[in-house]
Amino acid sequence: MTGTVLILGGRSDIGVAVAHRFAMLGHPVALAARNAENLEATRSDIAIRHGVEATLHEFDVLETKALAAFVDSLGSLPEIVVCVAGAMGKQRESECDPEAATLVMRTNYEGPAVALGLLAERMVKRGHGTIVGISSVAGDRGRGSNYIYGSAKAGFTAFLSGLRNRLSKSGVHVVTVKPGFVATRMTDGMDLPGALTTTPDVVADAIYRAVSLRRSVVYVKPLWRPLMSIIRAIPEPIFKSLSL
Ligand SMILES: NC(=O)c1ccc[n+]([C@@H]2O[C@H](COP(=O)([O-])OP(=O)(O)OC[C@H]3O[C@@H](n4cnc5c(N)ncnc54)[C@H](OP(=O)(O)O)[C@@H]3O)[C@@H](O)[C@H]2O)c1
Repeated sequence: MTGTVLILGGRSDIGVAVAHRFAMLGHPVALAARNAENLEATRSDIAIRHGVEATLHEFDVLETKALAAFVDSLGSLPEIVVCVAGAMGKQRESECDPEAATLVMRTNYEGPAVALGLLAERMVKRGHGTIVGISSVAGDRGRGSNYIYGSAKAGFTAFLSGLRNRLSKSGVHVVTVKPGFVATRMTDGMDLPGALTTTPDVVADAIYRAVSLRRSVVYVKPLWRPLMSIIRAIPEPIFKSLSL
């Protein structure tokens, strides 16, 4: 099946890699982003290189009141939606400035959950579709170094889990993706550990496989799954004394 793939956050490094991955296999793609008109070069590259329809759509995940109208404006409902919109922010800034913290919380949790919830309702009425949310290992346990971002991703992970549970008999499948560290604009300048870091193309391959095989929760680098199991299992009295 080569239905349309909608990417929410279509300028993201991971989002563009996902668009190419599906387009390469014949899927039309719809890139939804802020200032979407600036993505024309990316859109035409996808369309020409893979010979598929590629469209641009204006989308701001923070405009939650406008998200229903955004979904209606798509015309036809996509077969697959991949939500990559997110923002890490700066932990220290988020600790001191409520506006900065709110932006991180709304961009990673509230907006994506509202957008995917609206798309899910329409997909359920139709009887089929796949919803992919890019969450994070940062949501598996709150850590002192990034708990603002991590708590928003934890909320998003819980939302995706509940949605998957509710829709399990509806024909609509929900995938949670936890990429681990990825070398993108978001992590530019960070000193990432090589063994735990991957690329947008590898994440895109993992997403394609997860959609095809109807996987539920995917850790892109397998090492992250046991690592996060260990981190979750550390007793709180020890955990609070660690600098993580
Ligand atoms: N890189 C990593 O190590 C890593 C690890 C785990 C999870 N993730 C998650 O993976 C996803 C993609 O991130 P990335 O690494 O590809 O970084 P990225 O290139 O910075 O992508 C983030 C995207 O989110 C979009 N966005 C932010 N606020 C938005 C808003 N209000 N409305 C619409 N779009 C908005 C940005 O749009 P603009 O282009 O308009 O700014 C940007 O394209 C994010 O959800 C991130 O949290 C990344």
